[in-house]
Amino acid sequence: MKRLEYRGYDSAGVATITGGALQRRRAEGKLVNLETRLKAEPLNGSIGIAHTRWATHGAPTEGNAHPHFTDGVAVVHNGIIENFAELKEELAAAGAEFQTDTDTEVIAHLLARHRQEGMGRGEAMHAMLKRVKGAYALAILFEDDPSSIMAARNGPPLAIGHGDGEMFLASDAIALAPFTNEVTYLIDGDWAVIGKGGADIFDFDGYPVERPRHTSMATAYLANKGKHRHFMEKEIYEQPEAIAYVLANYISLIENPADPIPSFDFASIPSLAISACGTAYLAGLIGKYWFEHYARLPVEIDVASEFRYREIPLSPQSAALFISQSGETADTLASLRYCKKLGLKIGAIVNAAESSIAREADAVFPILAGPEIGVASTKAFTCQLAVLAALAISAARTRGTVTENEVQALVRSLAEMPRIMGQVLNSIQPQIELLARELSKYRDALYLGRGTSFPLAMEGALKLKEISYIHAEGYAAGELKHGPIALIDKDMPVIVIAPFDRFFNKTVSNMEEVAARGGRVILVTDEKGATASKLDTMHTIVLPAVDEIIAPMIFSLPIQLLAYHTAVFMGTDVDQPRNLAKSVTVE
Ligand code: G6P
Repeated sequence: MKRLEYRGYDSAGVATITGGALQRRRAEGKLVNLETRLKAEPLNGSIGIAHTRWATHGAPTEGNAHPHFTDGVAVVHNGIIENFAELKEELAAAGAEFQTDTDTEVIAHLLARHRQEGMGRGEAMHAMLKRVKGAYALAILFEDDPSSIMAARNGPPLAIGHGDGEMFLASDAIALAPFTNEVTYLIDGDWAVIGKGGADIFDFDGYPVERPRHTSMATAYLANKGKHRHFMEKEIYEQPEAIAYVLANYISLIENPADPIPSFDFASIPSLAISACGTAYLAGLIGKYWFEHYARLPVEIDVASEFRYREIPLSPQSAALFISQSGETADTLASLRYCKKLGLKIGAIVNAAESSIAREADAVFPILAGPEIGVASTKAFTCQLAVLAALAISAARTRGTVTENEVQALVRSLAEMPRIMGQVLNSIQPQIELLARELSKYRDALYLGRGTSFPLAMEGALKLKEISYIHAEGYAAGELKHGPIALIDKDMPVIVIAPFDRFFNKTVSNMEEVAARGGRVILVTDEKGATASKLDTMHTIVLPAVDEIIAPMIFSLPIQLLAYHTAVFMGTDVDQPRNLAKSVTVE
């Protein structure tokens, strides 16, 4: 369960069958609360199901925590049952008594009703699956069968683990790694009966099916914080090494673009579509600037929750890139499937190599950031950027939009990154801490940037709000005068991200507009920018002057550290901020 806590941590529960009866322990809040409960009231059994919850329907209380029990049926569920209201009404009218506010409970009631009608377990399962609509990964126990677990998948992932005289089920091979590396992934519509000797898998129509067995590369090793206070801090400091590793894998792709991506020919595509969520989307937005600037390749980009429903008329000759740390984000996966249906070539930029998004793509571009535990993405973001930069240069080279000398200069700039990142991380912490102490006194903050610094401004605001809970917005610097300028006063610090690039003077003008209205400016710039700017700021963070292509990665560092130290001053739960989850498998 600890290995799955990244999926949700607002409550947790476990159920076993012991002495012929279903028993459970549940607790509100972090998993540690369930651990304490289990120490006080242990639970026995050799079969069980458990769940860490990220609430969708119903508050994160103990009562709403899974497993849900109804008349000898226990259910844990990831996803959302979309027709639960209608089913609940029907079941309640037939006498069912609901104990929770969750959508999940209808599953337990449907199964219990089918059993009362005389159906066998498999029959009841099949009948229940025909009634529910929406997304689910399910694990189910029947009290009258202490030898098997039922499972079903439609949307969120499920992996069956094969042991020696024991079998496992989890939403991720990572959770199974301490027990087994032999896994079978269920596909959408599958359901299964898992006993200690093996698993029988059926399709949606109830016919037995075979699904391949893989040897998972997930490791049993559980990342620890080392000398750091939080995983987020550790992951920020791991970036020089992570970037060096990812670059070592991608520089050859630029030199020989056809080699690792035979099916992904940038030269022949008329345009590129990109979709992702959260921080991965902001990485994609920076990628758009690069693909358009260097490779002259038009990019259509949107957050996946919009992309999937916009009915974008995309050419089947185009290609699409989906960016995801977890490789399981439901909206991103749905956008991928939309593009696949239209016939586009699909590329996945993912950190989890065995994820659903990776499995369904034509070409996989691994992020290679290593496990990222902090909910706020840091090293995965800069590694996504490194992959996108390499792909954009590779595309530019194949499309003939840059000269060979320019390619070599860009590659040299990329290769500089690990060293510069190390230098920045070694020097800026003391001043960031001072600034963070100041920033933690405010309730709002505005981030501004132009060019690739605009998505970075949004990323800065996202980082700050998600872990410190200070309200923050990221804006295109030029858009300031069309609205947010009305908010400027002494209580609104404005963080301006302005490397000394072709946009610098324009951004400085926008900064002047803030200062002229009594706003307090925190300028994040480089040595050249610091010399050029004459403005009296609240604080100026000065980074080394770097080439334009690597500026977003280098400027990410103070942005991440500022959010991190501000959150530390505020005393929030940095690695597991309230209401968030690392991997979101619901819409
Ligand atoms: C969640 C996480 C974010 C992440 C986003 C997309 O909101 O809290 O850190 O950026 O999902 O996740 P993905 O795994 O697709 O990159």
